[in-house]
Amino acid sequence: MTEKKLWGGRFTESTDALVEELNASIGFDKKLYRQDIAGSIAHARMLSSCGLISNDDLGAIEKGLREVAQEMDGGAFEWRIDREDIHMNVEAALREKIGAAAGRLHTARSRNDQVALDIRLWLRQRTLETVDAIADLQEALIGLAERGKDFLMPGYTHLQRAQPVNAGHHMLAYVEMLERDAQRLLDGFTRTNICPLGSGALAGTPFPIDREQVARTLGFDGITHNSMDGVSDRDFAVEFLATAALCQVHLSRLSEELVLWTSQEFGFIVLPDSFCTGSSIMPQKKNPDIPELVRGKTGRMVGDLVALLTVMKGLPLAYNKDMQEDKEPLFDGAETLLRCLEVTSRMMTKAEWKPDQLRGALNGGYLTATDLADFLVENGMPFRDAHEVSGTVVAFCVEHGKELDELTDDELERLTGYPATDVRPSLDPVRSVARRTQHGAPAQVHSAIDSARKRLTVLRAATVEKHNQIDLSHLLIPAE
Ligand code: ARG
Repeated sequence: MTEKKLWGGRFTESTDALVEELNASIGFDKKLYRQDIAGSIAHARMLSSCGLISNDDLGAIEKGLREVAQEMDGGAFEWRIDREDIHMNVEAALREKIGAAAGRLHTARSRNDQVALDIRLWLRQRTLETVDAIADLQEALIGLAERGKDFLMPGYTHLQRAQPVNAGHHMLAYVEMLERDAQRLLDGFTRTNICPLGSGALAGTPFPIDREQVARTLGFDGITHNSMDGVSDRDFAVEFLATAALCQVHLSRLSEELVLWTSQEFGFIVLPDSFCTGSSIMPQKKNPDIPELVRGKTGRMVGDLVALLTVMKGLPLAYNKDMQEDKEPLFDGAETLLRCLEVTSRMMTKAEWKPDQLRGALNGGYLTATDLADFLVENGMPFRDAHEVSGTVVAFCVEHGKELDELTDDELERLTGYPATDVRPSLDPVRSVARRTQHGAPAQVHSAIDSARKRLTVLRAATVEKHNQIDLSHLLIPAE
């Protein structure tokens, strides 16, 4: 075909240069070339086994497509904006290699089901890679929890010192969030890993194709059930971005704590020098840029989600060119999250607690006031009354500039009505944490670490199995 007549016989004019530029997606969808080519090989094999193309044509198509893939792998391929997108770039390059047989590849297929296929192939793999990166970060945080399992620190509500916990327990909270993120991703994977090919432009195809064969060849779990939905559904991508944005929000909360904790005011943790930066003017500065950036990138992640939702809103069925705008937010969101997960896990592997600082922060917040109330409850007082008494004790301390454990025996007895020897143990933060032995409470930190490790092993095994299922190296040798 002459490039002027990219769109075939219907057209008498070549495309306006500005239109060409705005219309083209090759600048970003070239990222999909391996998915596009593997999908084409699977499609061609099916066409041949259904008798729709000859064996010779199949041989030429497969060989030609592999050569195109190699050129793209090696960076030698000339991407052409006048060929609009990845699908047309691949097909035109194939035609230059094998001639007319290339024109048979698009039998029973449209770019509409082709692009839906490519994105699903790309996203299912990226989903698993993201789960793996989450698992790595969980491992790093479990390690940090292990190193901090015996270090007491204040737990906070409203960023006010609330009750004693241990640093391990605090870190394990993030391990839980990340586990749910990984589960959400794997759940989304089941809806992403469905093959839309065969939907055609929107109305299927009259050719006797075998959709199941293509799906099997590509390691899909099934095929889409409605051709119009098959080409116009992007919910799997929205779902991924929603999960990714939420995971980024979790990273952002962790980052916020790191920014606080590395400050002079808290001084709870030390981040490795290799993950911090200095100031061009203030020689003493060690800035937590990485947590700050991870926190900051949450803005663009949420933006990516909103961008895709907004593209999809109000689109009539079936395919609309608007949907070409799905790729940049999807790629950007996926890339941002993966990089942030990777850098955070490397950083946290080398992060170190400052136990004296953590412990020191237990002074000054009357952190065991609840334990004092609990002591009174254990001795028969209704909790609301006990809360009142304990509050009075705190008010006395505030007035006299004392910590709870600085109260004299006389003061304790007078304020609570119980002998100081009975009351005083309840003011000890070590005891406070040690007595919280219910499932999910801080004293369970040792078994919680074990349990988190076991669940992590199960998670990793689940992705290994799925990685094998979606591996396409039998169609296309992976790039070096
Ligand atoms: N580049 C297009 C996209 O990303 C491929 C599908 C184009 N289909 C069409 N009918 N123009 O959505």
